[in-house]
Amino acid sequence: MKTVTCTAPVNIAVIKYWGKKDEDLILPTNSSLSATLGQDELRAKTTVAVDSSFKEDKMWLNGKEEGVVSKRIQNVFRETRKRKGNQDSVDGLNQKIHICSENNFPTAAGLASSAAGYACLVYSLSKLFNVQGEISDIARLGSGSACRSIYGGFVEWQMGSLSDGSDSIAKQVTHDHHWPEMCILVLVVSDQKKHTGSTQGMQISVQNSTLLQKRIEIVPNRIKNITKAIIDKDFVTFAEITMKDSNQFHAICLDTYPPISYLTDVSRQIISFVHQFNDHCQQTKVAYTFDAGPNACLYLLEEDLPRVVSLVNHYFPPQNNGLTLTIQGRPVTLQTPTQEDKDAINIPVSPNSIKYLINTKIGKGPQVLSDPKECLLNDDGLPK
Ligand code: DP6
Repeated sequence: MKTVTCTAPVNIAVIKYWGKKDEDLILPTNSSLSATLGQDELRAKTTVAVDSSFKEDKMWLNGKEEGVVSKRIQNVFRETRKRKGNQDSVDGLNQKIHICSENNFPTAAGLASSAAGYACLVYSLSKLFNVQGEISDIARLGSGSACRSIYGGFVEWQMGSLSDGSDSIAKQVTHDHHWPEMCILVLVVSDQKKHTGSTQGMQISVQNSTLLQKRIEIVPNRIKNITKAIIDKDFVTFAEITMKDSNQFHAICLDTYPPISYLTDVSRQIISFVHQFNDHCQQTKVAYTFDAGPNACLYLLEEDLPRVVSLVNHYFPPQNNGLTLTIQGRPVTLQTPTQEDKDAINIPVSPNSIKYLINTKIGKGPQVLSDPKECLLNDDGLPK
């Protein structure tokens, strides 16, 4: 049995992907740009294996066996097998594959786990089959946003123009160590609601949102400007474009008929908190962005982290009795919020609105784990 085990990161878009012009090839209506998050906090881990004794392709996700019949999985398998390198002993076309994958964060956190999952699957298969060259286009066939998780740092998914999708690929904008002061704070909002999935939501937006058509004209300039801001480490410009793009994406969701609303009252309070804090500082120090759910992702610089986390904890405490919010990931030293800060920010104190925080930084792309202990499958090719 030959096995490969890899990890892959989550990414959070600052210029959102929302709309496809080809559902099968997953070709987007606009380019998008994201930051890859640190894998110590958020990652998918996948083992792929081939052996002549395997009777069929099999997959286990977070401990549960899942079918491999979905078109997206089949497209990923077909494309990876097609590009198998010559010098390898693995018979990519005929041997069956076993896959076992798990995340180090709860799916209940409502974070896009499919991007990390598909990126990890494609990266692992590419190592197993010795695929050379570009693989972000294969990850794209699994889930559009997954192509951006193939690289670390800031990453652009260039929409491309070819009808076969061969130029719809991810390109690294900057390395993971380019902007070390940048922090990402995920505010996991307490919310049980089931939201319209991205795939379905964007399909309806493409069908009937006129604002989405307008957005297609707006995005190229935004990508150009935010890329320059990232390269120049110009936080103010970066943050303003990030917030405007998140707001435009959610405006398109409301412009969709019937409307889709991902933001909740808590999300809107977080938006209000960020703007009031920035106004009070007379400088844009924090940016928010929201995906297809109510959780906020804040981008901010290290120097402002203790003050911002302490204020988040003040306005969104776990309960009434003054406990502090759980912070997963990198530790933060909390401070007592100053009276001046509290006077300047006029939002209600809302206990139990945020479940916990995840504090992370910009991270690396997928990694191979060579230690056999990391393997998720036993000698029979079944989950350990
Ligand atoms: C709001 O990549 O999950 O997170 O391609 O249909 O699998 P499919 O959609 P998906 O959409 C992500 C949408 C988003 C914005 C983004 O990540 O750019």
